[in-house]
Amino acid sequence: MDCRHLAPGIILLFVKLTGTSLFLVFMPGIFPHGNVSFVHEDNWTVLHTTESLPKVTTNIPVRTTASTTQKAPAAPLPLKWEGYQGSLYWFSETMEIWSGSRIRCKQQNSDLVIIRDKNELEFIFNKTISLEYFIGLSYSEDDRKWEWTDQTELQKNLFTMKQTEVGNECASVMAREVRQTSCFQESHWICKKL
Ligand SMILES: *[C@@H]1O[C@H](CO)[C@@H](O)[C@H](O)[C@H]1NC(C)=O
Ligand SMILES: *[C@@H]1O[C@H](CO)[C@@H](O)[C@H](O)[C@H]1NC(C)=O
Repeated sequence: MDCRHLAPGIILLFVKLTGTSLFLVFMPGIFPHGNVSFVHEDNWTVLHTTESLPKVTTNIPVRTTASTTQKAPAAPLPLKWEGYQGSLYWFSETMEIWSGSRIRCKQQNSDLVIIRDKNELEFIFNKTISLEYFIGLSYSEDDRKWEWTDQTELQKNLFTMKQTEVGNECASVMAREVRQTSCFQESHWICKKL
């Protein structure tokens, strides 16, 4: 590149810059109301700052609230115990095999429900119309009979068990029936507080 052609350009640029600087320095003197433009700029700066600061502070509580709400479902939901004739019952929302459901009851200081009379049976039938629930009744291989979890024998006149496949050694209720169910099939269950 030819420096002799570039030099005049640089000089011209220098003159222009000097001229602009001098103009800016003396502008308030040239235009008496020139100050106004700087005030405008200050006000704009102040406004810009105050606008963005609250944004930051409001965003933080919003994020905190959001993360708290997201964490909430992870905490175990309180169990809904339902009272009937002085006893408390829990109709599970999840499913387990019979032995697993019994453990879940024991963790809540209860056991799978033992149905003592017709009133209690009616209460349970009313609550188990469309879903199957395990109860505390199973077939004892040793005693060769159906027994409640407290080893008491099943009263003959309380209900007739619906017989299903051979080898189903646990009992469940559904659709106003007590039925023989596989102990290893997952089902809902009913706990009763002792
Ligand atoms: C700039 O701010 C000052 C002080 O708050 C105010 O008196 C003035 O009116 C503002 N000027 C403009 C152009 O907003
Ligand atoms: C069962 O349901 C029937 C019909 O809704 C009702 O009349 C009865 O009182 C209920 N019984 C119990 C024990 O909840």
